[in-house]
Amino acid sequence: MAEVLTQTRPPVTSSSGKAMISSARIARRVRRLGRLISDAYADIETPLVLLVILKGASVFAADLMRSLSIPAELEFVRAASYGAGTASSGRVRLAHMMQGTFADRHVLLVEDIVDSGRTAEAVAKRVTRTKPASLRLAALLDRPARRVADVKIDFRGFVIPDRFVIGYGLDYAGLYRELPDIHSLG
Ligand code: IMP
Ligand code: MG
Repeated sequence: MAEVLTQTRPPVTSSSGKAMISSARIARRVRRLGRLISDAYADIETPLVLLVILKGASVFAADLMRSLSIPAELEFVRAASYGAGTASSGRVRLAHMMQGTFADRHVLLVEDIVDSGRTAEAVAKRVTRTKPASLRLAALLDRPARRVADVKIDFRGFVIPDRFVIGYGLDYAGLYRELPDIHSLG
């Protein structure tokens, strides 16, 4: 059967002609982060635990995991603070956190973007209670302009200006996660 090409993606906005970060640039940076992370954890004796903060970080995590040259396991936590808007509501709800514990495991939180920092902080607090061997944070994007919580990003992809972004897993009201580039909205 012939491949049928249809345009099903909603238009991204007039300002989106040029991507803020192209898929090629993202790919290069993610591979580099993968090497840095593999080096940092080269001597650990248990597989690294990637704890992915759903949903936005799923695309980044899938690429990052395949850039690693060390054994890694995959866990997920669902965190939501935004609802359908573009400004943080200030409260973070966590769900689907792995049953059991990260005791004595090396845990790397994987986040799409650190904005206020409240999400990463909330997940880190919860993980810390289970006494991991170590806990670090990898974030594809860092938007320092709206930071509230004092979080340290150990592995960082890009620092971006104070604009809401979509694509490569990042959404606006659930849409645009499938875009391969990162665009600023408006
Ligand atoms: P924080 O808790 O304020 O640091 O916000 C982090 C979470 O909010 C991220 O995991 C994203 O899911 C979401 N978020 C923050 N900024 C953006 C954005 O510009 N686009 C899409 N999602 C965002
Ligand atoms: Mg997120």
